[in-house]
Amino acid sequence: MASTTKHRRLSAWVEEMAALCQPDRIHWCDGSAEENKWLCSQLVENGTFRLLNERRRPDSYLAWSDPGDVARVEDRTFICSKSQEDAGPSNNWVDPREMKQTLRQCFAGSMKGRTMYVIPFSMGPIRSPISHIGIELTDSAYVVVNMRIMTRMGQAALDALGEDGEYVPCLHSVGYPLEPGQKDVPWPCNPVKYIAHFPEERAIWSYGSGYGGNALLGKKCFALRIASCMARDAGWLAEHMLILGIESPEGEKVYVAAAFPSACGKTNLAMLVPPPACEGWKITTVGDDIAWIKPGADGRLYAINPESGYFGVAPGTSDRSNSNAIKTLRANSIFTNVALTPEGDVWWEMMEDTAPERLTDWTGRPWTPGCGRQAAHPNARFTAPASQCPSLDPAWEDPAGVPISAFIFGGRRSVMVPLVFEAYDWDHGVYLGATMGSETTAAAAGAVGATRRDPFAMLPFCGYDFGSYFDHWFQVGSKLPAPPRIFRVNWFRKDANGRFLWPGFGENMRILQWIFHRVAGNLDALQSPLGWMPGYADLEWAGLGGFTEARFRELMAVDREAWLNETAYHEEFFTSLDSRLPVEMERQRQFLLERLSASPAVWKLP
Ligand code: GTP
Ligand code: SPV
Ligand code: MN
Repeated sequence: MASTTKHRRLSAWVEEMAALCQPDRIHWCDGSAEENKWLCSQLVENGTFRLLNERRRPDSYLAWSDPGDVARVEDRTFICSKSQEDAGPSNNWVDPREMKQTLRQCFAGSMKGRTMYVIPFSMGPIRSPISHIGIELTDSAYVVVNMRIMTRMGQAALDALGEDGEYVPCLHSVGYPLEPGQKDVPWPCNPVKYIAHFPEERAIWSYGSGYGGNALLGKKCFALRIASCMARDAGWLAEHMLILGIESPEGEKVYVAAAFPSACGKTNLAMLVPPPACEGWKITTVGDDIAWIKPGADGRLYAINPESGYFGVAPGTSDRSNSNAIKTLRANSIFTNVALTPEGDVWWEMMEDTAPERLTDWTGRPWTPGCGRQAAHPNARFTAPASQCPSLDPAWEDPAGVPISAFIFGGRRSVMVPLVFEAYDWDHGVYLGATMGSETTAAAAGAVGATRRDPFAMLPFCGYDFGSYFDHWFQVGSKLPAPPRIFRVNWFRKDANGRFLWPGFGENMRILQWIFHRVAGNLDALQSPLGWMPGYADLEWAGLGGFTEARFRELMAVDREAWLNETAYHEEFFTSLDSRLPVEMERQRQFLLERLSASPAVWKLP
């Protein structure tokens, strides 16, 4: 489709980028069903997509990526602020002029033989005061059809932009130009990759990858890295958080936002199905990955989910672990790097108790249960529309957002960190977020399982230095008359035999109940060296037969020596952040040290 915009700056930018990338043609995406059909059939023709069995999985497709392009590439991700100090020591930095020069060479002619798609999209409900608009230029039809699920994409976003609206320019190329007559490959990409952000310019240039957060630029690049800078400058928060509603049997409702690192259970928690013992309680889903949170006139924080779909981890998703996700992806979904069944449906590890006798794995090879390989890549993902989620919150598209009563921080820690505790106040809560550690997962390329500091689950996503980011969090809280409560949870603590101590998944409802009661002011709590804790009697235990009080006390224990070591890591991490660390952080560390010094070698709930 030709351009319909009267936005002169936008037209000029598209022309300039087209002159650089030299696509054969330009297509302005209207976001219509017809356009989507046309793109999907083109993807099938090229071998990128396989249409799944229409009866089992209507209007759904499977894609297998290049084996070298399966996850975010953190070592190829750059924050190109003018000064390196603004990017901070946790980000890769290159001078913006130098990076532009390098990238101009990469992008020069990079779209030859291809179409440049112009994707207007809104992050957040169109015309919500919390929303922002982006324009992605890409040479990947796979990106277009994913963006159509993940964002409000098409003509409506372009109309909302008007003749001179602000937008974040997002340039993307898979970096695989086609010479005349050259045949395309199913998953074009380039071994050289750059995911570059220009915070001052509010611009994104991504080259060489077609996968997930590297290529769907509305998600991590815009809604987190660039938006975190916008938020810092304008007094709001852009966070790697799910948003959910907790409704009690009495019909009282609170909303909470929760930060967990990648592949640590946000989608599971956001769509939680309460166990029978928690009858009458309801969990509703606003978002599963990103929250944009702005202070309202009434002194509360209001959050929207800037996305309109889920790009969720497939392996491990089952009726038992997340039945709402299974229902969400029953149709109109895209599956990337999962296995294919002989019937033409999808499969992944733990989808069912027993694996099918034969599959085609994500690399296209025959697979049988004992073959020693995984059928799906551990970072295989589904792209599914939020509108299909059975637990979707009625207010999920409310342009005003939903009021947030609590924040939850949850890393993946097999030792030491108790199941749940509550910060003594906002500043202590900011310390809990800042000192989060987590064992790494397959969501990013690299080693899996090492513990790393992942403050606020934002390590790979913060567009500026963490010292200023922590300060921003302190500031936001200090301006609120009654800031949200802050909690730390850990579903991942293991016993001496390496088994999870806590059943997790739906049973996490019992912890959400406690959080609900704390927020509502219904329940006192016990003081521990780490924060407020529930006593055994404060949680619902019905239906959890094997879970003894002794086991709970083990799950909640605080090992003084281990925690003293941990605070040394906190200090080491703070030191690595340089001069901009707010002094309040060290003060909070001293408070923690004092509480630990006064505690027994192993502190246990009374
Ligand atoms: P991104 O989309 O990468 O940001 O991650 P996410 O946080 O949405 O990840 P997701 O919910 O898909 O997490 C999937 C992983 O978390 C799987 O390995 C699950 O088994 C694990 N998981 C989720 N909830 C629980 C839980 O309560 N207990 C345990 N032990 N594992 C859990
Ligand atoms: C994550 O890694 O946190 C994701 C997936 O949500 S991606 O969009 O690929 O970054
Ligand atoms: Mn994520």
